[in-house]
Amino acid sequence: MGKKLLLDKIQIENLSSYQVYRQNGGYEAVEKALKKLTPDEVLEEVKKSGLRGRGGAGFPTGMKWSFIAKPEGVPRYLLCNADESEPGTFKDRFLMEKNPHLLIEGMILSSYALGCNTAYIYIRGEFMWIMHILEKAIAEAYANGWLGTNILGKGYNLDLYVSPGAGAYICGEETALIESLEGKRGNPRIKPPFPAVKGLWQCPTVVNNVETLAAVVPIINHGGEAYASVGIGRSTGTKLISACGNISKPGVYEIEMGISVEEFIYSDEYCGGIKDGKRIKACVPGGSSVPILPHYLITKTATGTERLMSYESLSEGGFASGSMLGSGGFIVYDEDQCIVRNTWNFTRFYHHESCGQCSPCREGTGWMEKVLHRIEYGHGQMRDIDLLWDVQKKIEGNTICPLGDAAAWPVASAIRHFREEFEWHINEPELCLKQNYGLVKEPAITV
Ligand SMILES: Cc1cc2nc3c(=O)[nH]c(=O)nc-3n(C[C@H](O)[C@H](O)[C@H](O)COP(=O)(O)O)c2cc1C
Repeated sequence: MGKKLLLDKIQIENLSSYQVYRQNGGYEAVEKALKKLTPDEVLEEVKKSGLRGRGGAGFPTGMKWSFIAKPEGVPRYLLCNADESEPGTFKDRFLMEKNPHLLIEGMILSSYALGCNTAYIYIRGEFMWIMHILEKAIAEAYANGWLGTNILGKGYNLDLYVSPGAGAYICGEETALIESLEGKRGNPRIKPPFPAVKGLWQCPTVVNNVETLAAVVPIINHGGEAYASVGIGRSTGTKLISACGNISKPGVYEIEMGISVEEFIYSDEYCGGIKDGKRIKACVPGGSSVPILPHYLITKTATGTERLMSYESLSEGGFASGSMLGSGGFIVYDEDQCIVRNTWNFTRFYHHESCGQCSPCREGTGWMEKVLHRIEYGHGQMRDIDLLWDVQKKIEGNTICPLGDAAAWPVASAIRHFREEFEWHINEPELCLKQNYGLVKEPAITV
Protein backbone atom coordinates (compact mmCIF):
# COMPACT_ATOMS: atom_id res chain seq x y z
CA MET A 1 0.00 0.00 0.00
CA GLY A 2 1.41 3.38 -0.99
CA LYS A 3 1.87 6.35 1.30
CA LYS A 4 -0.44 8.53 -0.75
CA LEU A 5 -4.00 7.29 -0.63
CA LEU A 6 -6.16 10.33 -1.40
CA LEU A 7 -3.94 12.47 -3.62
CA ASP A 8 -2.11 9.61 -5.36
CA LYS A 9 -3.85 10.28 -8.67
CA ILE A 10 -4.28 14.03 -8.30
CA GLN A 11 -1.81 14.84 -11.10
CA ILE A 12 -3.86 12.92 -13.67
CA GLU A 13 -5.37 15.35 -16.13
CA ASN A 14 -9.14 15.73 -15.98
CA LEU A 15 -9.47 13.40 -12.97
CA SER A 16 -12.70 15.16 -12.02
CA SER A 17 -14.41 13.63 -15.07
CA TYR A 18 -16.14 10.28 -14.68
CA GLN A 19 -14.32 8.53 -17.54
CA VAL A 20 -10.86 9.43 -16.28
CA TYR A 21 -11.75 8.54 -12.68
CA ARG A 22 -13.21 5.20 -13.74
CA GLN A 23 -10.26 4.37 -16.05
CA ASN A 24 -7.97 4.87 -13.09
CA GLY A 25 -9.67 2.41 -10.77
CA GLY A 26 -12.59 4.58 -9.73
CA TYR A 27 -15.71 2.90 -8.28
CA GLU A 28 -13.88 -0.44 -7.90
CA ALA A 29 -14.34 -0.16 -4.12
CA VAL A 30 -18.12 0.18 -4.60
CA GLU A 31 -18.11 -2.83 -6.92
CA LYS A 32 -16.17 -4.82 -4.33
CA ALA A 33 -18.40 -3.76 -1.45
CA LEU A 34 -21.75 -4.30 -3.15
CA LYS A 35 -20.77 -7.58 -4.80
CA LYS A 36 -18.69 -9.18 -2.05
CA LEU A 37 -19.29 -7.47 1.31
CA THR A 38 -22.29 -7.01 3.57
CA PRO A 39 -22.84 -3.57 5.14
CA ASP A 40 -21.52 -4.94 8.45
CA GLU A 41 -18.39 -6.19 6.73
CA VAL A 42 -17.75 -2.71 5.32
CA LEU A 43 -18.20 -1.31 8.84
CA GLU A 44 -15.78 -3.94 10.15
CA GLU A 45 -13.09 -2.87 7.64
CA VAL A 46 -13.50 0.76 8.71
CA LYS A 47 -13.15 -0.27 12.36
CA LYS A 48 -10.03 -2.32 11.57
CA SER A 49 -8.53 0.62 9.69
CA GLY A 50 -8.48 2.73 12.84
CA LEU A 51 -9.69 5.71 10.76
CA ARG A 52 -10.42 8.75 12.92
CA GLY A 53 -12.61 11.68 11.90
CA ARG A 54 -10.66 14.26 9.90
CA GLY A 55 -13.01 17.13 10.73
CA GLY A 56 -11.09 18.10 13.86
CA ALA A 57 -12.04 15.98 16.85
CA GLY A 58 -10.43 12.71 15.64
CA PHE A 59 -13.24 10.48 16.88
CA PRO A 60 -12.94 6.86 15.61
CA THR A 61 -15.17 6.61 12.52
CA GLY A 62 -16.09 2.92 12.86
CA MET A 63 -17.17 3.45 16.46
CA LYS A 64 -19.27 6.47 15.48
CA TRP A 65 -20.99 4.47 12.76
CA SER A 66 -21.73 1.64 15.16
CA PHE A 67 -23.69 4.08 17.38
CA ILE A 68 -26.30 4.79 14.70
CA ALA A 69 -29.75 3.83 15.91
CA LYS A 70 -31.71 1.43 13.70
CA PRO A 71 -35.39 1.75 14.59
CA GLU A 72 -37.66 -0.16 12.24
CA GLY A 73 -39.11 1.91 9.37
CA VAL A 74 -37.17 5.11 10.20
CA PRO A 75 -34.78 6.49 7.54
CA ARG A 76 -31.12 7.09 8.36
CA TYR A 77 -29.02 9.86 6.85
CA LEU A 78 -25.39 10.40 6.02
CA LEU A 79 -24.27 14.02 5.91
CA CYS A 80 -20.94 15.06 4.50
CA ASN A 81 -19.57 18.09 6.29
CA ALA A 82 -17.97 20.18 3.55
CA ASP A 83 -18.45 23.51 5.31
CA GLU A 84 -14.70 24.01 5.83
CA SER A 85 -14.59 27.53 7.23
CA GLU A 86 -11.83 27.21 9.82
CA PRO A 87 -9.13 29.82 9.16
CA GLY A 88 -6.05 28.02 7.84
CA THR A 89 -7.92 24.93 6.66
CA PHE A 90 -8.43 24.37 2.93
CA LYS A 91 -7.88 20.66 2.32
CA ASP A 92 -11.48 19.50 1.70
CA ARG A 93 -12.05 22.14 -0.90
CA PHE A 94 -8.94 20.95 -2.78
CA LEU A 95 -10.05 17.32 -2.68
CA MET A 96 -13.61 18.07 -3.84
CA GLU A 97 -12.43 20.35 -6.62
CA LYS A 98 -9.79 17.98 -7.99
CA ASN A 99 -11.36 14.58 -7.28
CA PRO A 100 -15.13 14.86 -6.67
CA HIS A 101 -15.79 11.22 -7.57
CA LEU A 102 -13.56 10.05 -4.72
CA LEU A 103 -15.89 11.74 -2.24
CA ILE A 104 -18.98 10.38 -4.01
CA GLU A 105 -17.51 6.86 -3.99
CA GLY A 106 -16.66 7.18 -0.28
CA MET A 107 -20.20 8.35 0.42
CA ILE A 108 -21.73 5.40 -1.44
CA LEU A 109 -19.60 2.99 0.61
CA SER A 110 -20.36 4.75 3.88
CA SER A 111 -24.10 5.00 3.15
CA TYR A 112 -24.16 1.30 2.30
CA ALA A 113 -22.45 0.43 5.59
CA LEU A 114 -24.85 2.64 7.56
CA GLY A 115 -28.00 1.54 5.75
CA CYS A 116 -28.73 5.06 4.48
CA ASN A 117 -30.69 5.62 1.29
CA THR A 118 -30.34 9.40 1.29
CA ALA A 119 -27.15 11.39 1.75
CA TYR A 120 -26.25 15.07 1.54
CA ILE A 121 -23.10 17.05 0.97
CA TYR A 122 -23.43 20.30 2.95
CA ILE A 123 -20.91 22.52 1.24
CA ARG A 124 -19.71 25.95 2.30
CA GLY A 125 -21.84 28.47 0.43
CA GLU A 126 -18.79 30.36 -0.85
CA PHE A 127 -17.60 27.22 -2.68
CA MET A 128 -20.26 27.64 -5.36
CA TRP A 129 -17.96 26.59 -8.21
CA ILE A 130 -17.14 23.38 -6.35
CA MET A 131 -20.84 22.78 -5.83
CA HIS A 132 -21.19 22.81 -9.62
CA ILE A 133 -18.25 20.39 -9.96
CA LEU A 134 -19.93 18.06 -7.47
CA GLU A 135 -23.32 18.33 -9.14
CA LYS A 136 -21.80 17.40 -12.49
CA ALA A 137 -19.99 14.43 -10.92
CA ILE A 138 -23.17 13.29 -9.13
CA ALA A 139 -25.09 13.45 -12.45
CA GLU A 140 -22.35 11.30 -14.03
CA ALA A 141 -22.57 8.82 -11.15
CA TYR A 142 -26.35 8.55 -11.60
CA ALA A 143 -25.96 8.17 -15.38
CA ASN A 144 -23.50 5.31 -14.89
CA GLY A 145 -25.58 3.46 -12.32
CA TRP A 146 -23.58 4.22 -9.17
CA LEU A 147 -26.39 6.24 -7.62
CA GLY A 148 -30.16 5.84 -7.78
CA THR A 149 -32.16 2.64 -7.50
CA ASN A 150 -30.88 -0.93 -7.54
CA ILE A 151 -27.19 0.00 -7.77
CA LEU A 152 -25.24 -2.73 -9.63
CA GLY A 153 -28.42 -4.80 -9.57
CA LYS A 154 -27.85 -5.48 -5.89
CA GLY A 155 -31.07 -3.95 -4.63
CA TYR A 156 -29.35 -1.07 -2.86
CA ASN A 157 -30.73 2.47 -3.43
CA LEU A 158 -29.00 5.76 -2.73
CA ASP A 159 -29.84 9.37 -3.55
CA LEU A 160 -27.16 12.00 -3.08
CA TYR A 161 -27.79 15.76 -2.93
CA VAL A 162 -25.59 18.84 -2.57
CA SER A 163 -26.81 21.64 -0.36
CA PRO A 164 -25.08 25.03 -0.11
CA GLY A 165 -24.13 26.23 3.36
CA ALA A 166 -25.58 29.30 4.99
CA GLY A 167 -22.37 31.32 5.11
CA ALA A 168 -21.47 30.87 8.76
CA TYR A 169 -18.58 29.05 10.39
CA ILE A 170 -20.92 27.71 13.05
CA CYS A 171 -22.81 25.74 10.37
CA GLY A 172 -19.79 23.39 10.31
CA GLU A 173 -20.64 22.24 13.84
CA GLU A 174 -22.55 19.04 13.21
CA THR A 175 -25.82 19.88 14.96
CA ALA A 176 -25.85 23.44 13.57
CA LEU A 177 -25.28 21.88 10.16
CA ILE A 178 -28.33 19.69 10.68
CA GLU A 179 -30.45 22.69 11.73
CA SER A 180 -29.24 24.61 8.69
CA LEU A 181 -29.98 21.70 6.37
CA GLU A 182 -33.49 21.63 7.80
CA GLY A 183 -33.81 25.24 6.68
CA LYS A 184 -33.41 26.86 10.07
CA ARG A 185 -30.83 29.20 11.59
CA GLY A 186 -27.62 27.28 12.23
CA ASN A 187 -27.76 27.13 16.01
CA PRO A 188 -26.05 24.13 17.64
CA ARG A 189 -28.35 21.74 19.47
CA ILE A 190 -27.91 20.58 23.02
CA LYS A 191 -26.57 17.01 23.16
CA PRO A 192 -27.87 14.42 24.01
CA PRO A 193 -29.69 13.35 21.98
CA PHE A 194 -26.75 12.82 19.66
CA PRO A 195 -27.28 12.89 15.88
CA ALA A 196 -26.75 9.10 15.74
CA VAL A 197 -30.08 8.83 17.57
CA LYS A 198 -31.90 12.04 16.59
CA GLY A 199 -30.29 14.01 13.80
CA LEU A 200 -31.74 15.27 10.54
CA TRP A 201 -35.52 15.54 10.87
CA GLN A 202 -35.15 13.70 14.20
CA CYS A 203 -33.86 10.59 12.39
CA PRO A 204 -30.60 8.71 13.03
CA THR A 205 -27.81 10.61 11.27
CA VAL A 206 -24.06 10.38 10.84
CA VAL A 207 -22.06 13.52 10.05
CA ASN A 208 -18.58 13.00 8.65
CA ASN A 209 -15.92 15.21 7.19
CA VAL A 210 -15.07 15.13 3.44
CA GLU A 211 -11.62 13.62 4.00
CA THR A 212 -12.99 10.97 6.39
CA LEU A 213 -15.51 9.79 3.80
CA ALA A 214 -12.96 9.85 0.98
CA ALA A 215 -10.61 7.70 3.08
CA VAL A 216 -13.18 4.88 3.09
CA VAL A 217 -12.33 4.24 -0.59
CA PRO A 218 -8.70 3.12 -0.03
CA ILE A 219 -9.84 1.28 3.11
CA ILE A 220 -12.21 -0.89 1.09
CA ASN A 221 -9.82 -1.21 -1.86
CA HIS A 222 -6.88 -2.37 0.25
CA GLY A 223 -8.57 -3.62 3.43
CA GLY A 224 -8.75 -2.09 6.90
CA GLU A 225 -5.61 -3.81 8.15
CA ALA A 226 -3.50 -2.56 5.26
CA TYR A 227 -4.75 0.98 5.94
CA ALA A 228 -3.89 0.62 9.62
CA SER A 229 -0.35 -0.44 8.72
CA VAL A 230 0.23 3.08 7.39
CA GLY A 231 0.78 5.76 10.02
CA ILE A 232 1.76 5.51 13.63
CA GLY A 233 -0.01 4.14 16.73
CA ARG A 234 -3.62 5.26 16.91
CA SER A 235 -3.00 7.78 14.15
CA THR A 236 -3.46 5.45 11.22
CA GLY A 237 -3.38 6.18 7.51
CA THR A 238 -2.57 9.45 5.86
CA LYS A 239 -3.69 13.00 6.56
CA LEU A 240 -4.29 15.95 4.30
CA ILE A 241 -2.59 19.05 5.63
CA SER A 242 -3.22 22.53 4.27
CA ALA A 243 -0.06 24.50 4.92
CA CYS A 244 0.09 28.29 4.87
CA GLY A 245 1.77 31.29 6.46
CA ASN A 246 5.44 32.19 6.11
CA ILE A 247 6.63 29.07 4.33
CA SER A 248 8.23 28.66 0.92
CA LYS A 249 5.61 26.29 -0.48
CA PRO A 250 2.08 26.80 0.79
CA GLY A 251 -0.37 24.16 -0.40
CA VAL A 252 -2.25 20.97 0.36
CA TYR A 253 -0.09 17.95 1.16
CA GLU A 254 -0.87 14.34 1.96
CA ILE A 255 1.43 13.02 4.68
CA GLU A 256 1.77 9.64 6.25
CA MET A 257 0.78 10.07 9.89
CA GLY A 258 3.90 10.05 12.02
CA ILE A 259 6.41 11.92 9.85
CA SER A 260 8.29 14.48 11.92
CA VAL A 261 7.06 18.05 12.10
CA GLU A 262 10.60 19.09 11.22
CA GLU A 263 10.42 17.11 7.98
CA PHE A 264 7.03 18.60 7.19
CA ILE A 265 8.19 22.17 7.65
CA TYR A 266 11.69 22.00 6.22
CA SER A 267 11.72 19.35 3.49
CA ASP A 268 11.23 20.33 -0.14
CA GLU A 269 8.56 17.68 -0.50
CA TYR A 270 6.30 19.70 1.78
CA CYS A 271 6.57 23.28 3.07
CA GLY A 272 10.14 23.86 1.84
CA GLY A 273 11.25 25.76 4.95
CA ILE A 274 10.57 29.26 6.21
CA LYS A 275 10.18 31.89 3.51
CA ASP A 276 13.09 34.24 2.81
CA GLY A 277 15.40 32.31 5.11
CA LYS A 278 13.82 33.75 8.25
CA ARG A 279 13.53 31.97 11.57
CA ILE A 280 10.36 30.29 12.74
CA LYS A 281 8.57 31.93 15.65
CA ALA A 282 5.46 29.82 16.15
CA CYS A 283 3.05 27.47 14.48
CA VAL A 284 -0.61 26.57 14.72
CA PRO A 285 -0.73 22.93 13.59
CA GLY A 286 -4.46 22.24 13.32
CA GLY A 287 -6.45 25.29 12.23
CA SER A 288 -7.18 28.51 14.11
CA SER A 289 -8.96 26.69 16.97
CA VAL A 290 -5.97 24.87 18.38
CA PRO A 291 -3.31 26.17 20.76
CA ILE A 292 -0.32 27.94 19.23
CA LEU A 293 3.10 26.32 19.67
CA PRO A 294 6.18 28.51 20.27
CA HIS A 295 9.30 27.69 18.20
CA TYR A 296 10.90 25.61 20.96
CA LEU A 297 7.90 23.24 21.14
CA ILE A 298 7.34 22.74 17.41
CA THR A 299 9.89 20.11 16.47
CA LYS A 300 10.46 18.78 20.00
CA THR A 301 8.05 18.18 22.86
CA ALA A 302 8.70 19.56 26.35
CA THR A 303 10.37 16.26 27.29
CA GLY A 304 12.72 16.45 24.32
CA THR A 305 11.15 13.74 22.15
CA GLU A 306 10.69 14.42 18.47
CA ARG A 307 7.35 16.06 17.65
CA LEU A 308 5.47 14.08 15.01
CA MET A 309 2.52 14.80 12.75
CA SER A 310 0.06 12.62 14.65
CA TYR A 311 -2.91 13.10 17.00
CA GLU A 312 -0.90 11.86 19.99
CA SER A 313 2.41 13.62 19.42
CA LEU A 314 0.95 17.03 18.58
CA SER A 315 -1.12 16.96 21.77
CA GLU A 316 1.73 15.62 23.94
CA GLY A 317 2.19 17.84 26.97
CA GLY A 318 -1.50 18.81 27.02
CA PHE A 319 -2.28 22.48 26.81
CA ALA A 320 0.79 23.39 28.87
CA SER A 321 3.20 22.47 26.07
CA GLY A 322 1.21 20.78 23.30
CA SER A 323 -1.46 21.52 20.73
CA MET A 324 -3.70 19.40 18.46
CA LEU A 325 -3.77 17.96 14.96
CA GLY A 326 -7.30 19.39 14.64
CA SER A 327 -8.46 19.84 11.07
CA GLY A 328 -4.92 19.85 9.66
CA GLY A 329 -4.71 23.58 8.95
CA PHE A 330 -0.99 24.19 9.49
CA ILE A 331 -0.12 27.89 9.89
CA VAL A 332 3.51 28.96 10.26
CA TYR A 333 4.68 32.32 11.65
CA ASP A 334 8.15 33.72 11.07
CA GLU A 335 10.12 35.88 13.48
CA ASP A 336 8.52 39.11 12.18
CA GLN A 337 4.91 38.16 12.94
CA CYS A 338 3.05 39.75 15.84
CA ILE A 339 1.38 37.17 18.07
CA VAL A 340 -0.89 39.77 19.70
CA ARG A 341 -2.15 40.90 16.33
CA ASN A 342 -2.68 37.31 15.20
CA THR A 343 -4.58 36.48 18.39
CA TRP A 344 -6.73 39.57 17.99
CA ASN A 345 -7.44 38.62 14.38
CA PHE A 346 -8.56 35.09 15.32
CA THR A 347 -10.66 36.43 18.17
CA ARG A 348 -12.32 38.92 15.85
CA PHE A 349 -13.31 35.95 13.70
CA TYR A 350 -14.76 33.97 16.62
CA HIS A 351 -16.67 37.00 17.91
CA HIS A 352 -18.17 37.52 14.47
CA GLU A 353 -19.01 33.82 14.07
CA SER A 354 -20.43 33.11 17.54
CA CYS A 355 -24.09 32.13 17.10
CA GLY A 356 -24.90 34.02 20.29
CA GLN A 357 -26.88 31.31 22.05
CA CYS A 358 -24.49 30.98 25.01
CA SER A 359 -23.60 34.09 27.01
CA PRO A 360 -19.99 33.08 27.78
CA CYS A 361 -19.22 32.78 24.05
CA ARG A 362 -21.38 35.67 22.82
CA GLU A 363 -20.13 38.14 25.44
CA GLY A 364 -16.70 36.63 26.10
CA THR A 365 -15.50 36.66 22.49
CA GLY A 366 -16.56 40.31 22.25
CA TRP A 367 -14.66 41.24 25.39
CA MET A 368 -11.57 39.37 24.30
CA GLU A 369 -11.64 41.14 20.97
CA LYS A 370 -11.99 44.51 22.66
CA VAL A 371 -9.15 43.91 25.13
CA LEU A 372 -6.84 42.44 22.48
CA HIS A 373 -7.56 45.37 20.20
CA ARG A 374 -6.59 47.88 22.85
CA ILE A 375 -3.38 46.00 23.68
CA GLU A 376 -2.47 45.71 20.00
CA TYR A 377 -3.13 49.41 19.38
CA GLY A 378 -1.16 50.73 22.31
CA HIS A 379 -3.89 51.34 24.87
CA GLY A 380 -3.39 48.26 27.02
CA GLN A 381 -2.65 48.02 30.69
CA MET A 382 -0.88 45.21 32.53
CA ARG A 383 -4.09 44.09 34.19
CA ASP A 384 -5.58 43.47 30.73
CA ILE A 385 -3.49 40.33 30.36
CA ASP A 386 -5.05 38.83 33.51
CA LEU A 387 -8.46 40.03 32.36
CA LEU A 388 -8.02 38.23 29.05
CA TRP A 389 -6.92 35.07 30.85
CA ASP A 390 -9.95 35.29 33.11
CA VAL A 391 -12.42 35.79 30.24
CA GLN A 392 -11.09 32.87 28.17
CA LYS A 393 -11.25 30.63 31.24
CA LYS A 394 -14.90 31.53 31.72
CA ILE A 395 -15.73 30.62 28.11
CA GLU A 396 -13.88 27.28 27.98
CA GLY A 397 -16.20 24.34 28.67
CA ASN A 398 -19.21 26.56 29.33
CA THR A 399 -20.93 26.55 25.96
CA ILE A 400 -23.30 24.26 24.06
CA CYS A 401 -20.79 23.64 21.27
CA PRO A 402 -16.99 23.76 21.06
CA LEU A 403 -16.88 27.14 19.30
CA GLY A 404 -16.35 28.65 22.74
CA ASP A 405 -13.33 26.42 23.37
CA ALA A 406 -12.06 27.18 19.88
CA ALA A 407 -12.14 30.89 20.74
CA ALA A 408 -10.58 30.45 24.20
CA TRP A 409 -7.63 28.17 23.38
CA PRO A 410 -5.74 30.47 20.97
CA VAL A 411 -5.94 33.28 23.56
CA ALA A 412 -4.86 31.06 26.45
CA SER A 413 -1.92 29.59 24.55
CA ALA A 414 -0.79 32.99 23.25
CA ILE A 415 -0.67 34.34 26.80
CA ARG A 416 0.94 31.17 28.12
CA HIS A 417 3.79 31.14 25.60
CA PHE A 418 4.09 34.77 24.51
CA ARG A 419 3.27 36.76 27.64
CA GLU A 420 6.35 38.93 27.22
CA GLU A 421 5.07 40.00 23.79
CA PHE A 422 1.81 41.19 25.37
CA GLU A 423 3.83 43.01 28.03
CA TRP A 424 6.02 44.57 25.37
CA HIS A 425 2.94 45.94 23.61
CA ILE A 426 1.80 47.47 26.87
CA ASN A 427 5.21 48.82 27.95
CA GLU A 428 6.38 50.05 24.55
CA PRO A 429 3.24 50.94 22.62
CA GLU A 430 4.86 53.42 20.26
CA LEU A 431 7.74 51.16 19.35
CA CYS A 432 5.32 48.32 18.81
CA LEU A 433 3.02 50.29 16.55
CA LYS A 434 5.96 51.54 14.54
CA GLN A 435 7.37 48.08 14.17
CA ASN A 436 4.09 46.39 13.29
CA TYR A 437 2.47 49.04 11.14
CA GLY A 438 5.02 51.77 10.49
CA LEU A 439 2.63 54.07 12.35
CA VAL A 440 3.95 57.03 14.26
CA LYS A 441 0.59 57.98 15.77
CA GLU A 442 -1.84 55.65 17.45
CA PRO A 443 -4.98 54.99 15.41
CA ALA A 444 -8.33 55.71 16.99
CA ILE A 445 -9.98 52.79 18.72
CA THR A 446 -12.74 51.51 16.50
CA VAL A 447 -14.08 48.58 18.50
C1 LIG B 1 -17.64 25.77 15.17
C2 LIG B 1 -17.33 24.45 14.55
C3 LIG B 1 -17.10 24.36 13.18
C4 LIG B 1 -16.84 23.13 12.59
N1 LIG B 1 -16.59 23.10 11.25
C5 LIG B 1 -16.37 21.90 10.66
C6 LIG B 1 -16.16 21.82 9.24
O1 LIG B 1 -16.19 22.82 8.53
N2 LIG B 1 -15.94 20.59 8.71
C7 LIG B 1 -15.93 19.44 9.48
O2 LIG B 1 -15.78 18.35 8.95
N3 LIG B 1 -16.11 19.50 10.81
C8 LIG B 1 -16.33 20.69 11.40
N4 LIG B 1 -16.57 20.73 12.75
C9 LIG B 1 -16.62 19.45 13.48
C10 LIG B 1 -18.02 18.81 13.33
O3 LIG B 1 -18.85 19.27 14.40
C11 LIG B 1 -17.97 17.28 13.41
O4 LIG B 1 -17.24 16.90 14.55
C12 LIG B 1 -17.33 16.65 12.19
O5 LIG B 1 -17.93 17.05 10.99
C13 LIG B 1 -17.43 15.14 12.32
O6 LIG B 1 -16.81 14.51 11.22
P1 LIG B 1 -15.60 13.52 11.43
O7 LIG B 1 -15.97 12.55 12.52
O8 LIG B 1 -15.45 12.85 10.11
O9 LIG B 1 -14.41 14.33 11.80
C14 LIG B 1 -16.81 21.96 13.38
C15 LIG B 1 -17.03 22.05 14.75
C16 LIG B 1 -17.28 23.28 15.33
C17 LIG B 1 -17.51 23.35 16.80
